[in-house]
Amino acid sequence: MKKKTFIFYLTSLIISSIYLFGCNNTSKNIKKTTMSDNSAQIALPKPEGFEKIIDGKQTHYFNLKNKNGVQASFTNYGAHLVGLLIPDKSGKLIDVVVGFNDIDGYKKTLSAYYGATVGRYGNRIANGKFKLEGKSYTLFINNKPNTLHGGKKGFNDVVWDAKQINNNEVQFTYLSKDLEEGYPGNLNCTVTYELTEDNAVKISYEATTDKTTVINLTNHSYFNLNGIGSGNILNHIVQIKAANFTPVDENLIPTGEIKPVVGTSFDFLLPTEIGKRIDEKNEQILFGKGYDHNFVLDKHEINQPIATIVGDISGIKMEIFTSEPGIQFYSGNFMNGANEEIGGQKDLNRSAFAMETQHFPDSPNKPQFPTTVLKPGEVYKSLTIYRFKSN
Ligand code: BGC
Repeated sequence: MKKKTFIFYLTSLIISSIYLFGCNNTSKNIKKTTMSDNSAQIALPKPEGFEKIIDGKQTHYFNLKNKNGVQASFTNYGAHLVGLLIPDKSGKLIDVVVGFNDIDGYKKTLSAYYGATVGRYGNRIANGKFKLEGKSYTLFINNKPNTLHGGKKGFNDVVWDAKQINNNEVQFTYLSKDLEEGYPGNLNCTVTYELTEDNAVKISYEATTDKTTVINLTNHSYFNLNGIGSGNILNHIVQIKAANFTPVDENLIPTGEIKPVVGTSFDFLLPTEIGKRIDEKNEQILFGKGYDHNFVLDKHEINQPIATIVGDISGIKMEIFTSEPGIQFYSGNFMNGANEEIGGQKDLNRSAFAMETQHFPDSPNKPQFPTTVLKPGEVYKSLTIYRFKSN
């Protein structure tokens, strides 16, 4: 073979090898998916994007995998869940939580709390003020005129200490110092994530304090059960075992009432499409710009699912179990397409939803709601399980 022809064949061989073998590995970097592609993402981020020093502390990336090939990834920066691969009805693994390629992606989108552990107080406290044992406390106003999800630098923006317990469990701990973000008491918090063999992500929280304080921890993952990048979530089917919800004012602070859902846009007692009533012209929907409300869960045991959501295309069903009395159903109304997710697609409006298990918003100012007070000597415990099945 002539030298020129040989070089030509060699070059073609190299190019086609890069195409065949390289594409799979790098697809998340080069593939730009738009809503019209309807193609779910299958990529998890690479560990490198999570190895950083932040506030003088080392951040890492942790990946858990079970025998079914399900994978869940985390970082100790903000104790985030950064990726979750679940098999769809055909057995193909798809990523069902919104995530970013690196910590910078999370830093840029802090106010959306993608995948974060939220604390010290998940959701809003009216006017950033509350009273406890006769003392008044003032918090940072980051969601005018209220404080939201922990304040200026919440638990989502701090580096937690990390320990991988075994192949299925990773544990993050954080000491929130007395008066950090205005909250009283040194609060020692632990969040343990476990990926179980029955395809569930189990989140256990524990905390203790040395002064009376308030606490309401939650996980703020945004799910798209058809896979992120597959379109909006309006055709997902939701069921929430909640006969009541807590209506809000125009600033999304509960009015204090507990109202029946029957006959309202908030009745998810039977499986219903998210989009069916999301744009109804009633005050509550207008205040939330869609769903952004706390549902009062019916009395339940931890082994009974309190909510079930099904991806209409993938057939993936997510069941939620929790020890908490409420759940904030947020339909991604403030997602605005300004950020690039893993895979390159934008975080378009209502392209994912959050189901934040919790005590009710503004409980420190609403004595009629279940208490969020934690005293020295007590142990705060909370458990939430997101279990996935593929039909
Ligand atoms: C809140 C929304 C908020 C979102 C992102 C949700 O928990 O209820 O109002 O926009 O978190 O911060």
